[in-house]
Amino acid sequence: MKVFFAITTLISLATARPTCPTKPTTAYGASATVTPAANSSTTTTSSTGYSNSTAGNKLATGWYPSWVSDKFAPSQIPWNKYSALTYSFVVTTGDSSFFNLTDDPSTFQEFVSQAHAHNVKALVSVGGWTGSRFFSSSVATPENRTAFASALIDFATKNKLDGIDFDWEHPNTDGMGCNTKSPNDSANFLEFLKEVRQKAPQGFQLTAATAITPFKGPDGNPMSDVSGFAQVLDRIAVMAYDVYGPFSETAGPNAPLQDSCAPTKDQLGSGTSAVKAWTNAGFPANQIALGVPSYGHGFTVASSAIGGDAQKLAEFPAFDKNLVPPGTGETADMKSTDACGAVSGPGGSFMYNDMVNRGMINAQGTSAASGLLYQFDNCSQTAYIYNSTSQVFISYDNTDTYKAKGNFIKEQNLAGFAMWTIDTDTPDGTLADAIRSTM
Ligand SMILES: *[C@@H]1O[C@H](CO)[C@@H](O)[C@H](O)[C@H]1NC(C)=O
Ligand SMILES: *[C@@H]1O[C@H](CO)[C@@H](O)[C@H](O)[C@H]1NC(C)=O
Ligand SMILES: *[C@@H]1O[C@H](CO)[C@@H](O)[C@H](O)[C@H]1NC(C)=O
Ligand SMILES: *[C@@H]1O[C@H](CO)[C@@H](O)[C@H](O)[C@H]1NC(C)=O
Ligand SMILES: *[C@@H]1O[C@H](CO)[C@@H](O)[C@H](O)[C@H]1NC(C)=O
Ligand SMILES: *[C@@H]1O[C@H](CO)[C@@H](O)[C@H](O)[C@H]1NC(C)=O
Ligand SMILES: *[C@@H]1O[C@H](CO)[C@@H](O)[C@H](O)[C@H]1NC(C)=O
Repeated sequence: MKVFFAITTLISLATARPTCPTKPTTAYGASATVTPAANSSTTTTSSTGYSNSTAGNKLATGWYPSWVSDKFAPSQIPWNKYSALTYSFVVTTGDSSFFNLTDDPSTFQEFVSQAHAHNVKALVSVGGWTGSRFFSSSVATPENRTAFASALIDFATKNKLDGIDFDWEHPNTDGMGCNTKSPNDSANFLEFLKEVRQKAPQGFQLTAATAITPFKGPDGNPMSDVSGFAQVLDRIAVMAYDVYGPFSETAGPNAPLQDSCAPTKDQLGSGTSAVKAWTNAGFPANQIALGVPSYGHGFTVASSAIGGDAQKLAEFPAFDKNLVPPGTGETADMKSTDACGAVSGPGGSFMYNDMVNRGMINAQGTSAASGLLYQFDNCSQTAYIYNSTSQVFISYDNTDTYKAKGNFIKEQNLAGFAMWTIDTDTPDGTLADAIRSTM
């Protein structure tokens, strides 16, 4: 259950925008003549390979969602906060030699040229929640892998990309529901990545966005050895968010840094558990970026569920599942239908910049408007606010959270951070500054 909804933030963020369901996509495919010479250069596993990073030798990255371009054009990105940024998304189609790029190609081209003008690496992300629908079939056979890899490398070369991010949500998982799926997904994924690596120019970055546990093996459990992936990927970003949300049993932290200090039943995973799980399975820490959210999750929590002390919020209160508060850009009656026919909404995600703009929190996110209760949970490093009139309870990451996560990145010798999504930080990058200041 959790896994099904765990990544719905990706789509709920997208569907939060009324224009999204009809957003244009542009088709790309491998022409029959495209046969890039196989390249013997293989692994680039340097965590210090980001020579122009603006945060020492640490990676400062995140995803740019194409569907915000009308409100937040590539020219508005605070480029000097980042060493690499990733355009979202390339979506898989039923044909493994073709894929679609979300939104207008001119937005994508502007993104790449802006990135390069600012000495920032430009990547494109393949997949996402809905865009992963045909990932499994696209990598299922040697022929399909070759066709898909060739089409992607051809596209990347023509567009002067510095890398490709794979956001398959998730191998051997019922992701959006009607997605293709196979017990061989992870094995096929690795074979596919080897082929992409072989076809890629030297220095080309290959990355993946992952769950907080390693890729699933044929038995549906996380693999105990993912070291083969570390040989072909430069790095992964663990999406250590959506741990709690409207899909969970109780309200709780969206993106806990730590959960071993929480009551046992509430330990659903964290940034710390994710790094432990991936490194235990053979993925080096210095190739792991910590995924960090620039949004919080809202819940409807009755005042009576908040705890005896009116000034103290309970951390895992019960909430009304049938009354998800409308989040940023949403109305209470908003519904959307995905390509599988599933109806959802509202999603109740509150964007950080929106919470600041509405005056719910200060720019640092460390205090709330008068009339709201504010609390910071030292275990998960999560901020909470509560409006007892509307009964809206929001768990979110603030600058203190981001500083704590920066410290964690430094202590654990991780690659850096990856923010989903960079447009909902404040325009001048308050959250990015906070994490960069400590990592
Ligand atoms: C780093 O930036 C300098 C200019 O500041 C540029 O000449 C150089 O090519 C960049 N290096 C990389 C690896 O992007
Ligand atoms: C890909 O884009 C084309 C239009 O360019 C559209 O007809 C097709 O339905 C899209 N496919 C998917 C899977 O989004
Ligand atoms: C390979 O890709 C084609 C479309 O290009 C698809 O029809 C077929 O089902 C895929 N093969 C497998 C085994 O999924
Ligand atoms: C998985 O791969 C094995 C061999 O690599 C093959 O025999 C089997 O048919 C595959 N299973 C599926 C469901 O594709
Ligand atoms: C292979 O790598 C070399 C650098 O070693 C690079 O010059 C060349 O462009 C690459 N070939 C392809 C087809 O990407
Ligand atoms: C939370 O932790 C910080 C630093 O570790 C400490 O200064 C602060 O007193 C703690 N607050 C609570 C309420 O425990
Ligand atoms: C709390 O919720 C009520 C009811 O929706 C609203 O009128 C009020 O502005 C909110 N308070 C704050 C400080 O946001």
